[in-house]
Amino acid sequence: MRIAITGSSKGIGEAIARKFLENGHIVTGIDVLPAAISHPNYTHIVADVLGELPEIDGVDILVNNAGVQNSGRDIEVNLQGTIRVTEKYGVRRGIKSIVFVASASASTGSEFPEYAASKGGIISYMKNVALRVAQWGATCNSISPGGVTTALNDRVMKDPALWQQIMEETPLKKWASAQEIAEWVYFVSAVNKSMTAQDIIVDNGESAKAKFVW
Ligand SMILES: NC(=O)c1ccc[n+]([C@@H]2O[C@H](COP(=O)([O-])OP(=O)(O)OC[C@H]3O[C@@H](n4cnc5c(N)ncnc54)[C@H](O)[C@@H]3O)[C@@H](O)[C@H]2O)c1
Repeated sequence: MRIAITGSSKGIGEAIARKFLENGHIVTGIDVLPAAISHPNYTHIVADVLGELPEIDGVDILVNNAGVQNSGRDIEVNLQGTIRVTEKYGVRRGIKSIVFVASASASTGSEFPEYAASKGGIISYMKNVALRVAQWGATCNSISPGGVTTALNDRVMKDPALWQQIMEETPLKKWASAQEIAEWVYFVSAVNKSMTAQDIIVDNGESAKAKFVW
């Protein structure tokens, strides 16, 4: 199948692009940064999700992954950029699946205000899109990671005291890898045929944690 993915030059997006390539798919990545992947089935387009979007023929699966955190432009990039990309490549006859990489903060409300709001908006928008693409038999879902071990989080991953505090709040005492999030994205888009309009939280129990006082 033909996959289009945003934010494929680093972190979770790069892992998702590699996962589809390993499974024999044809991948086009869109990122403001140059390509991190060199593969015969990979095409890289340097573009901003808020700028002019390139023409891409026949997208079967769209993965909306590009995102920023506490940038002063979180609503624009994460929400408006995602909507632009989805309306162009996703909401059309022929689409088979759309996946959004949202965040556990969409449900908890924690983290940076505009970031949480942008991700909450993505989940509402995901449900709106799911209803519109269902007429073509397409699924549309989001994956909401908690902490993932990417460079985005170097600030807390490299500070032992902050990392210990985070682990105290995380029941499974670890974060997910980018490769594991890629497995989830692959499953909900390339394997799943019946689940749609759903958000899946993959957060090592972070948002389920509630201290029981007796
Ligand atoms: N890392 C985490 O802990 C975590 C947790 C929950 C959700 N997420 C979400 O997962 C997604 C990927 O995060 P990551 O940790 O891999 O981040 P990252 O910073 O490592 O990678 C993000 C990629 O998106 C690209 N990008 C940013 N702005 C763009 C724009 N305007 N147009 C095109 N490309 C753009 C960047 O250049 C980069 O390659 C983001 O949406 C993020 O909010 C991450």
